Amino acid sequence: MLKLLCNSCQKEFALTENRVVCDCGGLLDLVQPLEELKKLDLKKTFDARLGSRALPDGSGVWRFRELLFPAKKIISKWEGNTRLYFSEKISQEIGAEIFFKHEGENPSGSFKDRGMTAAITAGASAGCRNFVCASTGNTSASLASYCANAGLNGIVIIPEGKIAFGKLSQALAFGAKVLQIKGNFDAAMQLVNELSRKFDPENPSESVYILNSVNPFRVEGQKTIVLEILQQLNWEAPDWIVLPAGNLGNTSAFGKAIAEAFALGLIAKKPRIAAVQAAGANPFFKYFQSGWTKFEAVEDPETVATAIKIGNPQSYLRAKRAIETTDGVVLEASENEILDAKATIDAAGIGCEPASACSLAGIRQLVKSGEIKKGQKVVGVLTGHLLKDPDTTIDYHLGKLANVEINKANRPIAIEANVDAFLSAIR
Ligand code: F0G
Repeated sequence: MLKLLCNSCQKEFALTENRVVCDCGGLLDLVQPLEELKKLDLKKTFDARLGSRALPDGSGVWRFRELLFPAKKIISKWEGNTRLYFSEKISQEIGAEIFFKHEGENPSGSFKDRGMTAAITAGASAGCRNFVCASTGNTSASLASYCANAGLNGIVIIPEGKIAFGKLSQALAFGAKVLQIKGNFDAAMQLVNELSRKFDPENPSESVYILNSVNPFRVEGQKTIVLEILQQLNWEAPDWIVLPAGNLGNTSAFGKAIAEAFALGLIAKKPRIAAVQAAGANPFFKYFQSGWTKFEAVEDPETVATAIKIGNPQSYLRAKRAIETTDGVVLEASENEILDAKATIDAAGIGCEPASACSLAGIRQLVKSGEIKKGQKVVGVLTGHLLKDPDTTIDYHLGKLANVEINKANRPIAIEANVDAFLSAIR
């Protein structure tokens, strides 16, 4: 039987209790009935659904629904089914087989859609109409899109002036109520945590349902990033999966997906996770460095990668488990490393937003330290689309970013509108 288990006080809840967090404030995990699932031929089922022209099989999330949870009515935008690019150019540079899983190819341009379809489906099935999140941008864009599409009320709380324009424009355009607070993401998250304690399971339609990754159903949806990677690699696990880390919902989801896939025999070995934080927003990195002895929030996180400008990640205990169970590592990347990696991914014709580039910055570090060996298979996860944050890209190429090394600028060239000027410019 599927159940929810508090990872702090170990209290259990039935799915029907519509819980998002425990009374003790701890986070809930959905515990999958692995023994029952072992009786199914999951690989065959998942593979048979590939290419389906109908929902739910056609969704890259609900295709794996046996490993999620049963839902009365699925709210889906055909999310997932994102490409896994093999980059010859970057593989040659690195000396390993480098793939990029482009989660920016989801309907709202980030991986958040995978968790959103799952959690909004769970909330709406429980009778909720009002949905809220704190966000550095992408969750708000995703929530706004799914709520608008399903005729539900979306409310997003964002740090004023600190989210990339592409994301703000989405939240506004999709018609969510956009509440800008004076503080940063951590303050917005604190407000949402207070709201979550006011959630009344007896009166869901009047309550506000939380769609941040503290919500265990978000984690279940995001597991499918890993499941889809494994399916795309013909169920042969890569050696490493490297991803950017902020609030740590995704790192938690990846660990859970890998542990379950391994326990169910879908893969013969566990890929190692590398979670990469920005050096200016690195509490999880420091926690890892301390040998998991001391977790301390970062007071004023600062990074060009605004998506992961987070000082007090909510899922750090879940994410610790993910790193431990996959023999993983936690890294930090400097602003120069992030921007240089982004310019490399962009110039390979793949492209991503700044936070996503942490994956390549981390891969480079692991190659340098010898942890990634020659010829190993590595998947870097690109969490958001290049167009989410056009300002940073333009400022980089125009040399307008302060205090960063710019090695890969591609400046526009102003020319007269005649053939001679054209020919001299392309020479
Ligand atoms: N990459 C991007 C593009 C993100 O938007 C986020 C998180 C992350 C990585 C980190 O994922 O939080 O699960 O560790 N964005 C959240 C938001 C916080 O509000 O959109 P995480």
